Amino acid sequence: MTDDLAALAAETEAQLAAAADLRAWDAVRVGVLGRSGSLTGLLKGLGQVPAEQRKERGAALNRLKAQLEASIEARRVALDAAALDARLAAERMDVSLPPRPGLPGGEGGIHPISRTMEELTALFGAMGFSVAEGPDIESDWLNFSALNIPEHHPARQDHDTFYLPAGADGRRPVLRTHTSPVQARTMLGQEPPIRVIVPGRTYRADHDATHSPMFHQVEGLVIDRGITLGHLKGCLVDFLRAFFGIADLPVRFRASYFPFTEPSMEVDIGWSRKTGELGKGGDWLEILGSGMVHPRVLANCGIDPREWQGFAFGMGIERITMLKHGMPDLRPFYESDIRWLRHWATSPLSPPSLAEGV
Ligand code: DAH
Repeated sequence: MTDDLAALAAETEAQLAAAADLRAWDAVRVGVLGRSGSLTGLLKGLGQVPAEQRKERGAALNRLKAQLEASIEARRVALDAAALDARLAAERMDVSLPPRPGLPGGEGGIHPISRTMEELTALFGAMGFSVAEGPDIESDWLNFSALNIPEHHPARQDHDTFYLPAGADGRRPVLRTHTSPVQARTMLGQEPPIRVIVPGRTYRADHDATHSPMFHQVEGLVIDRGITLGHLKGCLVDFLRAFFGIADLPVRFRASYFPFTEPSMEVDIGWSRKTGELGKGGDWLEILGSGMVHPRVLANCGIDPREWQGFAFGMGIERITMLKHGMPDLRPFYESDIRWLRHWATSPLSPPSLAEGV
């Protein structure tokens, strides 16, 4: 290497070593390899080098370029690692800390999804419901067929189902696409009368600002003698008004279709599309699906539809949580960002209270 190239190499290495952050590093990189960088200049000047030296000079410049590019990249990797270490040290926290009185949320606080589930349990518990659970991995019979969604029914496609590899019976289990299979499980497992809610995880192959492949629903099921639409309406209106804390919240029942209920209704609440405020404004927002349990579903689950009737409902927990608190975005629910959690989590020491309103 000629002296000028050796000097450039030494100078660049020294500058790189001195670059304490990515900004300084980038200045060194541009100074050497950028459009008017020192090495770029030397490469451009190759044309003026006498023909008999050009080959050797060109080869030396290319070697130097490769060497400096490697050093620059190595320095970037080191600076990146140092920046990450510094960030990790700055954001360090003890996740094993027990909850401390006086902390509204944050460390040891209750996640808003869990909080909503606690509120649902308290509200429906006061109406005589108990909590039922089922597995996340479900047979396709329970997730679909038992609920009157036969093979090749279009509703199966609507659900963007995650299928798992086939089991011994040759059938592919699914990640449950809704909490409704727990309706079937409950009816198969216990004698009526039945009054349960089912909060839990559900899965659909869908991912954008308003959809997550894993999300939460709550299902409700009531089976008894002489159950009518009036019971369904009374129960859901009471629930919605108590949950959102608005005594005169407008609630509208709109005819709809679900395979597992007949008749089926979607339920809307009043809000203002303009301000997002619930309870006033003259617009309607769909909030849940419901209906009278289809006689075929009762029969599939061993319950005689001539003797027993029932109603069912299902809704998205993220959705009602976002609406209740005015949260704009679904994604932070799952990002474990401690700043978001500090803001939205609630104290484990003040569980939902019916007396104070949930
Ligand atoms: N399973 C439905 C869904 O995921 C929600 C639903 C609608 C549940 C009506 C019900 C019901 O129990 O009666 O979209």
